[in-house]
Amino acid sequence: MVVVSGSNARLLATQLADSLGWEHHSLETRRFPDSEGYIRIPSEVIDAVRKEPVVLVSNTFPDAGIVETLLMLEAINDVRRGNLENLRDIGPQQLEDVGPGTLLAVPYFGYSRQDKRFKPGEAISARAIGHLLASRCDGIIVFDLHAPKVLEDLPVPVAFTSAMPELAKHLQETVNPDFILSPDKGAIERASAVATAIDCEFSYLEKTRIDAHTIVHQAKDLNVDGKVVAIVDDMIATGGTICRAAEALRSQGAVAVHAACSHGLFTGGAIARLIRYVDGVHATGSLANPRDVISGGPALARGVDELFTTLKWDKK
Ligand code: R5P
Repeated sequence: MVVVSGSNARLLATQLADSLGWEHHSLETRRFPDSEGYIRIPSEVIDAVRKEPVVLVSNTFPDAGIVETLLMLEAINDVRRGNLENLRDIGPQQLEDVGPGTLLAVPYFGYSRQDKRFKPGEAISARAIGHLLASRCDGIIVFDLHAPKVLEDLPVPVAFTSAMPELAKHLQETVNPDFILSPDKGAIERASAVATAIDCEFSYLEKTRIDAHTIVHQAKDLNVDGKVVAIVDDMIATGGTICRAAEALRSQGAVAVHAACSHGLFTGGAIARLIRYVDGVHATGSLANPRDVISGGPALARGVDELFTTLKWDKK
């Protein structure tokens, strides 16, 4: 079986292929001078894509990733249907249809935070993107999705997988925290799973977001005096959430504060901001980032296993 990727998730694709012991192939991707994307399945990869089920690893971030993902799924589906017709008459034009067998693994699902309608007339963007992708594959693996509920009613099975076991192991080996903090209620499940895996104390803060750059935490006694604390979240964007939580921890006597997440977006100078507040920043490579220290391959592999079981596909 084969893992393929385009331009935006090659690292995670190779990590997944390593975890599964499968081959990885890169698809051809480039841009036309007007910036539109071009994708092609190289001739030498066509047999591999047709032979057995294929997992495409691709991000829907930034926006160009959505188009690239759709084009790659379209090309994979054409190849699996045996539709190879081309104007240059290269190779066989039509082969037999090899049937279903296309999975999509999305390390970072762009638009995941636009999962609710706060004002009338808004698009529920995460749902719209989910349905677009589901129309072109047999199942989707999503890695530490902000709020899984928004993709629960897609017409294909979705495996929600998480890198928290690997993140816990990494923190234990490098930081050895006494205390794990969730910086808001949304991250409680993830952060408490890390605390349980490490067998250390846990608490959470209640956060109010005023705007994209301003957040406020409700005051709370955290019992962190003299302790090493790791703040665990699904993603770090501007870093505002982590910086405010780190301030609260330091003011209550924490001796070291680390920040860990699955998705390191690190927008607008976030790293420079973060290093003024925390002793270390740890992320997976779901998005290319300078703090990628945790492999996302095992988590994606668990998602692939789950879908093979759900779809009753044979995983030789
Ligand atoms: C939101 O609820 C998320 O889980 C993160 O806490 C948030 O997106 C982080 O954003 P920022 O780094 O900009 O505070």
